[in-house]
Amino acid sequence: MYTSAQILEKVERALGSLPYERKPEGLYAPVRYVLSLGGKRIRPVLMLMSYNLYKDDVERIMMPALGLETYHNYTLLHDDLMDRADVRRGHATVHRKWDENAAILSGDSMLVLAYQRMAQCDTAILPQVMELFTETALEIGEGQQYDIEFETRNDVTEDEYIEMIRLKTSVLLACALKLGAMLAGAPTADAEILYDFGEQIGLAFQLQDDYLDVYGDFKTFGKRIGGDILCNKKTYMLINAQLLANESQRKELEYWLTVKDYDEEEKIRSVTQLYDEIGIPQIARKKIEYYYSLAEQSLAKVNLPEEKKSLLWQYAQQMLNRQN
Ligand code: IPE
Ligand code: IPE
Ligand code: MG
Ligand code: MG
Ligand code: MG
Repeated sequence: MYTSAQILEKVERALGSLPYERKPEGLYAPVRYVLSLGGKRIRPVLMLMSYNLYKDDVERIMMPALGLETYHNYTLLHDDLMDRADVRRGHATVHRKWDENAAILSGDSMLVLAYQRMAQCDTAILPQVMELFTETALEIGEGQQYDIEFETRNDVTEDEYIEMIRLKTSVLLACALKLGAMLAGAPTADAEILYDFGEQIGLAFQLQDDYLDVYGDFKTFGKRIGGDILCNKKTYMLINAQLLANESQRKELEYWLTVKDYDEEEKIRSVTQLYDEIGIPQIARKKIEYYYSLAEQSLAKVNLPEEKKSLLWQYAQQMLNRQN
C-alpha cells in the first residue's frame, strides 16, 4: 500500500504532465494556472487511497481521479466569482488575474474536461461511475445555490446549514471515496460505508474551512481572512453567535449584518470579537470533532483489517489538523 504522501506525489506528477494543446490560449491559460497553484489535492488522494484499500495498481484510475480534481477546480473558479474572492492558494483568482468572462468560460471548459477525464475508466463500470459523478455534480450546484441564498436570509437554521455544506462540499469527498472503492471492485456494502465516511469527514472539513476563514492565517490559508464575514455567509459560527448572543451582542451582530456602508476591516474585526466573546471557536471545534468521531465509527465498519484502514484514518486526521 502507498502512503498518502506517495499518492499525492503521483497525483502531482500526473497533473503536471497533462497536455494542453488546444487553442485559444486565453481559454486554457486560466485552466493551467489554477491547476498549477497547488492545493491539497484531497479528492484525488481520497479516491486513490480508497482504491488502494483493495488494489495496488492505483495508476489505472489516475485519469478519473484527475477528472475529480479538475471538477473541484472548476467549482473554485465559479465559487470565487460568486464569493467576490480575490485570492486563492495565495494567488490572484482567475476573475481578478483575467476577468469574469475567463472565470465563467474557462470554468465551463474545466467542467467538460472533468467529464472527459472521468470517462477514461473501465467501460464495464462507466455507467455507474457517470451516474454517481453526475448526481454529485448536481448536488454541489444545489449546495452552492443554498449558500448564496442564505447570504440574504437571517433565519437559517443549523440543520439547513449542515444540509447546505453536505451538498456543496461533503458529497464530493464521499463520491471520491466511493468511486475508488467501486473501481477497485469492492463489495457494495463497503463502498456505501466509505461514502458515509466521506460525508462525515466532509462536514468536518467544511466546518474547519469556515473556522479558518475567521481564525486562520492568510499566509498558510491562502484566502482572505474574514471573507465569509464580509459576505454575510450563514456559517455554523454565525448561526450560533446569533443564537447565543446576549441582547447587546445581538444588536451589534444585527448592525453588521445589515449595514450597507462600512469599513471592511472594521466589520471583520468586530464580528470576530463578538465570536470570541460568545465562545464560538470552542463551539465550532466541538462540532468538527463530533463529525470526526462519526467518521471514525463509520470507518470501523468497513470490512477490512485495521492496518489497511489506518493510512486512510491518518490522512483524515491530517485533514482535521490542517491550517490551509
Ligand atoms: C476549498 O477546497 C473549497 C472547500 C470545499 C472548502 P480545498 O480546501 O480542498 O481547496 P484546495 O484544493 O486544497 O485549494
Ligand atoms: C466552497 O465553499 C464549496 C465549493 C467550492 C463547491 P467556500 O466558498 O467556503 O470555499 P472557499 O473558502 O472559497 O475555498
Ligand atoms: Mg462559496
Ligand atoms: Mg468561496
Ligand atoms: Mg470557505
